[in-house]
Amino acid sequence: MKKYTDIAGDGGSNIVAQVEAQQRRLRERLASVRAIVAIVSGKGGVGKSSLTANLACGLAQSGLRVGVLDADLNGPTMAKMLGVRGQRLVLASGGVEPPRTTLGVKVMSMDLLLPSDSAPLEWNAVTQAEAHTWRGAMEASALREFLTDTNWGELDLLLLDLPPGTDRLVTLASLVERLAGTIVVTIPSDVSHLVVRKAITVASQVKAPVLGLVENMAGLFPGPDAAVLARDADIPLLGRVPFDPALAAAADRGEPFVAVAPESAAARALLAVAADLRQRLLSGS
Ligand SMILES: Nc1ncnc2c1ncn2[C@@H]1O[C@H](COP(=O)(O)OP(=O)(O)O)[C@@H](O)[C@H]1O
Ligand SMILES: [Mg+2]
Repeated sequence: MKKYTDIAGDGGSNIVAQVEAQQRRLRERLASVRAIVAIVSGKGGVGKSSLTANLACGLAQSGLRVGVLDADLNGPTMAKMLGVRGQRLVLASGGVEPPRTTLGVKVMSMDLLLPSDSAPLEWNAVTQAEAHTWRGAMEASALREFLTDTNWGELDLLLLDLPPGTDRLVTLASLVERLAGTIVVTIPSDVSHLVVRKAITVASQVKAPVLGLVENMAGLFPGPDAAVLARDADIPLLGRVPFDPALAAAADRGEPFVAVAPESAAARALLAVAADLRQRLLSGS
């Protein structure tokens, strides 16, 4: 069997140069972003997207220029939570203008590109069996295009809302060379901790530092202590966000919870995480 190193040429497509050019364009696009942070968990439904949306809004409210990329291509929720669903994307010179929320957060999501509510993301391949084989590579290149082709402009912070699955961060970290750090989200259950522990291991292996753990839906059930998980993993516990039905209701309305109920315990906890993030990554602004 021939290995790829035995192949003398690449048939003239110069694939290496093409990939290098794509990476260079991505690097150029992200050069105007001061810090890029990924929100991860490994587990679905724990509040990654809710945390992303509220951190973005809290930081925008404090005067920062913030963008959000919904890296969950198959289950995008950022446009809905941030109230920009249905907005038309405007093609401008150099790329696509991302819609802005009422607080000025720039949002890009697969949800803004899909033709209808029920249309799932489908990869075009010669056969569906091939689509399965190529999914990882296609997701990576879709994310790269999303990041590269969006007119983010000057940003203080770009938040990346990741899908569940512990391996997704590795893909993203290979694209975004300047990742400033990751935030890991859990809920107080053994099931969540089981998966999140693996996600922390993966996050520790990428070059970017793990900024810390956030416990979401705190107090909802009498589960394991997030402080123990954080201590065992040797990462800071950034905060505990209580379960609050009003937070879910605000997300469903596309309203920024931290702005509409800033005095609630959940909003205070979210704003404290936002302030910490600002202090650690952007002190001096
Ligand atoms: N602290 C909270 N209190 C109440 N509901 C919450 C809280 N955090 C998230 N939710 C709700 O739980 C559901 C899942 O949250 P989501 O952010 O979509 O999770 P993920 O992105 O990890 O899959 C959403 O309906 C969201 O509004
Ligand atoms: Mg999500």
